[in-house]
Amino acid sequence: MRTEMSFDSIDLAPSPDRFHRDVLTGLSRPQKMIDSKFLYDRRGSELFELICDVPEYYPTRTECSILRSFGAEIGEALKGRCLLIEPGSGSPTKLRLLRPHLEIAAYVPIEISAAMLRLSTQQLQAMDPELRVLPICADFTQPIQLPELHDVRPSRRVIFFPGSTIGNFHPPDAVRLLTHFGNLVGPGGGLLIGVDRRKPREHFLRAYDDEAGVTAAFNLNLLQRLNREVGADFKPQTFSHQVIYNDALARVEMHLRSEITQVVRVCGTPFSFQEGETIHTECSYKYAPGDFVALAAKAGFILNHSWTDSEKLFSVYYLCQGDGGSRDRSSQMTVF
Ligand code: AVI
Repeated sequence: MRTEMSFDSIDLAPSPDRFHRDVLTGLSRPQKMIDSKFLYDRRGSELFELICDVPEYYPTRTECSILRSFGAEIGEALKGRCLLIEPGSGSPTKLRLLRPHLEIAAYVPIEISAAMLRLSTQQLQAMDPELRVLPICADFTQPIQLPELHDVRPSRRVIFFPGSTIGNFHPPDAVRLLTHFGNLVGPGGGLLIGVDRRKPREHFLRAYDDEAGVTAAFNLNLLQRLNREVGADFKPQTFSHQVIYNDALARVEMHLRSEITQVVRVCGTPFSFQEGETIHTECSYKYAPGDFVALAAKAGFILNHSWTDSEKLFSVYYLCQGDGGSRDRSSQMTVF
């Protein structure tokens, strides 16, 4: 079964069977876990948009301030007409900040949530009727074949991957994903990517456990989704949102902690929980600049330029594949 899309788009969304299988496999592990991509159903995507505005969650605000301050420099680094591909596009806020500075032959948002893709495409087309938008509903971690675009003649393909979403992948998976991006953009193609930086633990604990409880609602929404979509009988009120900063691995972890000993059925299969046992629902890796550049190099990307904010909380990098404009300009970087 495929998600219905009422506008001109390509639908490669994962099937419900895939969700089902992944959940049963993840809950059978000694440390129960569910892939963080499943946090984003319609409600989860809405809650994530709200998280981006809570005062404690600095990444979105900070990244937007970098894009606003250095938009012209970014435009110069990406110079030429580009086919801009945005995996996990969500809302078009960040694209709008860059739009005045980029020459975009066509924009390809790739989004797992059909509802979010529909909404953002409509918003974009209303605000910017000149922009050619070619939406794809898909899990961007899976191989994607872009449609033939005979009438679009970009000078290069560029992936725009803001929000530090790369941090939600374990480093070997992040290298695989960046390699897949490298194949999508081809030699000379680019990657404009936002990455959260390492900093003291307190920043992370505040940012991922906000006082208003929006992040907690985002995490706990997964249980409602499981009840609705895979026939589970979780009692969300018996679970709590838990955040850990794992300094050794430089990652924030989100968990759902069972407050009681209980048995939960998922599509007829029983899973027992001890009091205090958790389902690990998300990792958010944080990177010192040198570590991120080294990771990207494993996928064939070479640093072209980077930008950061005055507090050095967050970085935006422009990296290139192969030999097309890939000289290392680190000596000319604004702030590293
Ligand atoms: C989407 N991703 C980069 C967010 C993050 O910071 O890891 C998801 C998130 N989880 C809790 N708050 C925000």
